Amino acid sequence: MKNVTCIEDLRTLARRRVPRAFFDYADSGSYNEETLRANRADLETIKLRQRVLVDVSERSLATTIVGQKVAAPFALAPIGLCGMQHGDGEILAARAADAAGIPFTLSTMSICSIEDVAEATGKPFWFQLYVIKDRGFSRDILGRAAAAKCNALVLTVDLQVLGQRHRDIKNGMTVPPEIRLKNVIDVATKPAWAWSILNGRRKTFGNLAGHVKGMGNVNQLAQWIGQQFDPALSWKDVEWIKKIWPGKLIIKGLLDVDDAKTAVKLGADAVVVSNHGGRQLDGAPSSISALPAIADAVGSDTEVLFDGGIRTGADLLRALALGAHACLIGRAYVYGLGAGGETGVGKAIDILKNELSVAMALTGVSRIGDIDRNLIVGAKAEKKPPARSRTRKPAAQR
Ligand SMILES: Cc1cc2nc3c(=O)[nH]c(=O)nc-3n(C[C@H](O)[C@H](O)[C@H](O)COP(=O)(O)O)c2cc1C
Repeated sequence: MKNVTCIEDLRTLARRRVPRAFFDYADSGSYNEETLRANRADLETIKLRQRVLVDVSERSLATTIVGQKVAAPFALAPIGLCGMQHGDGEILAARAADAAGIPFTLSTMSICSIEDVAEATGKPFWFQLYVIKDRGFSRDILGRAAAAKCNALVLTVDLQVLGQRHRDIKNGMTVPPEIRLKNVIDVATKPAWAWSILNGRRKTFGNLAGHVKGMGNVNQLAQWIGQQFDPALSWKDVEWIKKIWPGKLIIKGLLDVDDAKTAVKLGADAVVVSNHGGRQLDGAPSSISALPAIADAVGSDTEVLFDGGIRTGADLLRALALGAHACLIGRAYVYGLGAGGETGVGKAIDILKNELSVAMALTGVSRIGDIDRNLIVGAKAEKKPPARSRTRKPAAQR
């Protein structure tokens, strides 16, 4: 890792170490990947205001997210099949996040189970839920997350049907997975990866195995999952979740102001402006282009989180300046995991922290709470909603 200086280096290493089908699964977006590309392209068009001769010798990245103290304004996003980038991937990522003082989010579609991660880390983490057709399963898994002391629920609402990723089909990363000769040969040339997977505690969907009746093997489970995404999902389900989940509720996958307002009305402690990393509606706007309007509309009532395309500390600063209270990072840490397990995730987090700190210094801010739209070239000199200082209004006043 000595020569790794940026997230792109981790991506290059991951591409070498992880079999193609799994690297492509993480790297790609849906359909023509327009939205995937827009996430990056639009971030890069936002220019930061360089400021000089401001004392920035005492900088801090510390803040809070949904009331939780964090060492930096970002969390690890939920990643399905994270444990296929590296054996025990979810546990390694959770440990790296713990060490760095930021939250880790475990996906419903993880390889390690909620219980595996809880046992191996001993620290609270966030759990991400897909509400599937089998509502009984959703209720049970929330009970398991609460028992494991998960301290926030990330409810993902933008996957009521699955966007198609062409590369997954071409690579045989389908549900159920296809075993092809070229994949077998590819795996044979990635011995470190194969060793880590062989030694990992699980090789299937850890949260589902043993919890879905009659589903004995990975293929049956994969087929079950394929049939379980629910196009009938509605705000009523959010109300139901709000009633049965005892902790903080973060609603992830919003790009529209009206949807964000509804989420706040139903009691979301935070919303995540997100297009699922360009993996769902291709043709949807980039996350960063959707952020300011949502922050303006609901940023004084709830915490507005952001994800999509973050690869540098400057990207984090751009999102915070445009109204995000904090961010989630997806691929940036997935590449780290593929490149070097726990060390690689730690490296990704360190890179982003250091780059953010330098970007703050060169834009003349020392604290996360001081970041606002004044940091953006050409932005209206208005203050963003006082997201970090505000106190949440009681529900009755909303
Ligand atoms: C490989 C991969 C798997 C993902 N799996 C999930 C998931 O299980 N649940 C979820 O809510 N989001 C999932 N996402 C979306 C991420 O949580 C996040 O929104 C996205 O990665 C942010 O974009 P970025 O990768 O450019 O940072 C996944 C993203 C990737 C790249």
